[in-house]
Amino acid sequence: MERLQKVIARAGIASRRKAEELIKDGKVKLNGKTVTELGVKVSPSDRVEVNEIPIEREEPVYFLLYKPRGVISSVSDDKGRKVVTDFFAELKERIFPIGRLDYNTSGLILLTNDGEFANLLMHPRNKIEKVYVAKVKGVPLKENLKKLAKGIHLEDGKTAPAKVKMLSMDKKKQTAIVEISIHEGRNRQVRRMFEAIGHEVLKLKRERYGFLTLNGLKAGEARELTPHEVKQLRASALESEKNNHRL
Ligand code: URA
Repeated sequence: MERLQKVIARAGIASRRKAEELIKDGKVKLNGKTVTELGVKVSPSDRVEVNEIPIEREEPVYFLLYKPRGVISSVSDDKGRKVVTDFFAELKERIFPIGRLDYNTSGLILLTNDGEFANLLMHPRNKIEKVYVAKVKGVPLKENLKKLAKGIHLEDGKTAPAKVKMLSMDKKKQTAIVEISIHEGRNRQVRRMFEAIGHEVLKLKRERYGFLTLNGLKAGEARELTPHEVKQLRASALESEKNNHRL
């Protein structure tokens, strides 16, 4: 048995707080009857409707996928390209990616059917560190890498401080491999950060998401997160939320 507001939040319809408002406002029906008190518990067989629309009740599932390049971070693509959920064709739950990686970026991406969990991890105030390895054209100067570390002006504002580490350089080929850790998730952020210092990103891979790595997986392979990993992720997102309130 679970609280009604939790079931609504998990379906991705609203945060728990908003779900409570929906209930108080008489927008929620349980087995056909409007419920306005909070704290009502529901079982998996109960029918819940929000604004007359039945919500999907599935057991929450959580996966980590090593996305190969050339795959869209979506559940469908109008151009018929491969999407991340194609790697879960046998799964009965309807999962979706938490955030996105560019079509040509490879690496770690999480998928779930738990809308509340996805919103929590994706919320900009929840600072989960993501580590990328970029192969760039040209060999960046130290001072330019420092600019990335300090925060750089992009068209959508200055980026938050990042950790930047030169891993290797090939002076002959004029390329370099740079590790960059960021906790924001703006569109094409790493590519745009390097473009801002004059270096095109030739290859990009996300190697880490919080404490999760790609260890043991090959491109195209996935594994289920353990219940403990799910708890830890939720706790680290909530922890950064608390710290932000303190600021
Ligand atoms: N930054 C990018 O530029 N692309 C990604 O896919 C992820 C982060």
